[in-house]
Amino acid sequence: MNRLMLINGPNLNLLGTREPGIYGSHTLSDVVGEVKKVTDSFGYELEDFQSNHEGAMVDKIQEAGRTCSGIILNAAAYTHTSIAIRDAIASVPIPVLEVHISNIHTREEFRHHSMLASVCKGQVVGLGIKGYRYAALALLEK
Ligand code: DQA
Repeated sequence: MNRLMLINGPNLNLLGTREPGIYGSHTLSDVVGEVKKVTDSFGYELEDFQSNHEGAMVDKIQEAGRTCSGIILNAAAYTHTSIAIRDAIASVPIPVLEVHISNIHTREEFRHHSMLASVCKGQVVGLGIKGYRYAALALLEK
């Protein structure tokens, strides 16, 4: 399956205007464009999905498990709370890379813990939107 899934969680649809001092001025479509450059260069398709709803993200992770060879996931605030998303990741047979635009470890204490990290292949944190590109490379480079 020459296909990757990019999933962004709650409030990431507001990238560009949302707390630009923390998340920068790039929009979600800039993020998708950056990842697509990488997937295109490897001859892969990219499906991108954003939702503010936990269950919709669980559904998409399950679907990607059947249709894709990897997932790039920024679960946003659900990173810190969601056992349902953690269990969905653990249920799919494909690697999931966790991405955060900001450095969650230098921010408020409630952001330091990820419910997802121990079931993900790896984490890219604090590198801005470039982190999504690095995650795609990590999934695609052999
Ligand atoms: C985030 C970090 C989360 O703590 C926060 O809730 C987000 C974005 C990031 O990309 O830096 O919404 O995942």
